[in-house]
Amino acid sequence: MTPVPTLPLPSPRPDAAPAEPGLLSLVGRTPLARIHTPLPHPHPGFWAKLEGLGAGGMKASAAVSMLTGARRRGELRPGAPVVESTSGTLGLGLAFAGQALGHPVVLVGDTELEPSMRRLLRSHGARLELVDRPAPRGGWQAARLVRLREVLARTEDAYWPDQYNNPDNPAGYRSMAAELVDRLDHLDVLVCSVGTGGHSAGLAGALRRRWPRLRVVGVDSVGSALFGQPARPRLMRGLGSSIRPRNVRPELFDEVHWVGPAEATDACRRLARGSFVSGGWSTGAVALVAAWAARTEPGAVVATVFPDGPHRYLGTVYDDEFCAAHGLTGATPAARPLEIAHPGAAEAVGWTRCRTPRTRPAAGGAA
Ligand SMILES: Cc1ncc(COP(=O)(O)O)c(C=O)c1O
Repeated sequence: MTPVPTLPLPSPRPDAAPAEPGLLSLVGRTPLARIHTPLPHPHPGFWAKLEGLGAGGMKASAAVSMLTGARRRGELRPGAPVVESTSGTLGLGLAFAGQALGHPVVLVGDTELEPSMRRLLRSHGARLELVDRPAPRGGWQAARLVRLREVLARTEDAYWPDQYNNPDNPAGYRSMAAELVDRLDHLDVLVCSVGTGGHSAGLAGALRRRWPRLRVVGVDSVGSALFGQPARPRLMRGLGSSIRPRNVRPELFDEVHWVGPAEATDACRRLARGSFVSGGWSTGAVALVAAWAARTEPGAVVATVFPDGPHRYLGTVYDDEFCAAHGLTGATPAARPLEIAHPGAAEAVGWTRCRTPRTRPAAGGAA
């Protein structure tokens, strides 16, 4: 592990006033697009909420919700620093929320974080602490948690949002749910990528109140431990986890799919070519599953969330050399997933579906 750097923190702001309160009005109201591009198999179309077109990406909603909740409860003092572990998108959301509400932001990431993302986070004023190797148990997330606790211990007044277990994370997606209710006459199937469990839990709760028969499909990464599969090193970021956060509630999902990086890459590239709107690993994975859901149930209204846009992934998903080096090219995704009876029945190595994702999480994970 690299030695802990001792850079000074940005100075806390002295007053309670938001630094740029007008920024908060930029969260949400992202477009809802109808996607028809074959992925690669034709389908009747599904709706996609384009969160990459909002300020700070999808996780700005979670970040603003967690910081305003903590301020309301007095857990985050005006101007005090915010410290969080992130693989990227929440970092951007926190950089946004920190500027809007007047808090310096320290992000604990790892050396897998794309150089462009590091530059972006720093350019928005966040300070980065990077761990350089995964923990033997719990992978990168566990290694980041160790560093996070060190940073918290030496940072006066620091607040840790703990996105994996904080109920204000799912609560932050109520306004996205309201936008979907506003725009759609009906919804049969909601397809969500799952990382911390924030947007799937927030949307599922609110949308089922409007459409009680709504089916919720969770999309995880192969090699992720979220739904009872063994944790393995993962290429994809954003969706999936090596721990089991409290915000991921398996009972909320009617089914779960695991998707591999080659399948997600194929879907991203087809989306970029055919629909213009695209994104990263989680966007490709949910698009593949949403297209399948629309195809297998003609007439059903299917919606999903594209959590971010393509720019962060120009050196991975959209880079021919990267894809060739990681064996991500050439294979056409199947028309339907493999099925397993329960999450422990077989290890998913490519697109796999399970209709009983009821495995209770182990004691809540963290960061
Ligand atoms: C790009 C991306 N997609 C999907 C997710 C998963 O969303 P959630 O954490 O709400 O489960 C994340 C979470 O950080 C993300 O960054």
